[in-house]
Amino acid sequence: MKPVMQPEEFRLIREFIAEEFGIVVDDGRIGFFSSRLYPRLVELHLDSFMDYYACLKFSPRGCNEHQHLISVITNNETYFFREDSQLQVLASHILPLLKEKKQHAGERKIRIYSAGCSSGEEVYTIAMILLESGHFLWDWDIMVTGIDVDPQMIGTAREGMYCGRAFQTTPPHLLEKYFSSVGDSFRVKEVLRRVTRFEQGNLLRLEPFLRSDPADVIFCRNVFIYFSDETTKKVVESFSGLLEPEGFLFLGHSESLSRISSLFQPIRHPGAIIYRKRDEGYPCNRGQ
Ligand SMILES: C[S@@+](CC[C@H](N)C(=O)[O-])C[C@H]1O[C@@H](n2cnc3c(N)ncnc32)[C@H](O)[C@@H]1O
Repeated sequence: MKPVMQPEEFRLIREFIAEEFGIVVDDGRIGFFSSRLYPRLVELHLDSFMDYYACLKFSPRGCNEHQHLISVITNNETYFFREDSQLQVLASHILPLLKEKKQHAGERKIRIYSAGCSSGEEVYTIAMILLESGHFLWDWDIMVTGIDVDPQMIGTAREGMYCGRAFQTTPPHLLEKYFSSVGDSFRVKEVLRRVTRFEQGNLLRLEPFLRSDPADVIFCRNVFIYFSDETTKKVVESFSGLLEPEGFLFLGHSESLSRISSLFQPIRHPGAIIYRKRDEGYPCNRGQ
């Protein structure tokens, strides 16, 4: 007989998901989880969801089963040029400021992260804005890095093939300039691929990224809505370690750091709030 998930099994699996990936699962989703995870019980020849929980709990981090679970629990909704008012602030305020700061320091390097990048649309959008800004010519070293915990999304992002809805708010001239049409779909052109990369990674464990160049800007939009305040606070602390002094953080329009963290100062622009890392000697956990 097909097993039904029991409340205790649901509680344990939810706790596991919150600890491992930060995602808070709503109380009412037991039916959804029961039906979505049942095929995994069959595949793994398990008798109950308690056995499935044990399999998750005692398997090594990042194992195959964790990857299956991630694709069930994540919401990957995204599209190109999402939340235009924030992107305007990037183009009109942040990029000119960065250029000035870098030129002053005699540097020609820009590093931007999209944390929780889903299938990559945000990363390619940021890359288009950088290239279109006219501030950073061929002699600048630009890299926009997308990080997501869901390996399927990272695969889609690397493939760089998109269609229909993904382009709902894309200016047509940019679609034409940066994509080649392939049947009903559009493929990202080489000019965007050269300045972008994608890494599977968990925002709760960003230590490996501390070995890379410090970030000038981090986008983490529409991710904290799935996290508890406590988890958000921890991730924001890691972001502070990844960012340059006075680096910038973009959150989704319904997300805020008020009452969560004072490591960043909110800066209000018409239609958008952007956060700037406070330059007050906060501990920076960056390894040498
Ligand atoms: C709704 S999408 C947001 C995509 C994009 N940032 C945007 O605003 O359009 C949320 C993404 O966050 C990712 N995510 C959730 N928890 C994560 C974690 N702990 N580490 C890394 N990525 C995570 C999900 O896999 C999903 O692709």
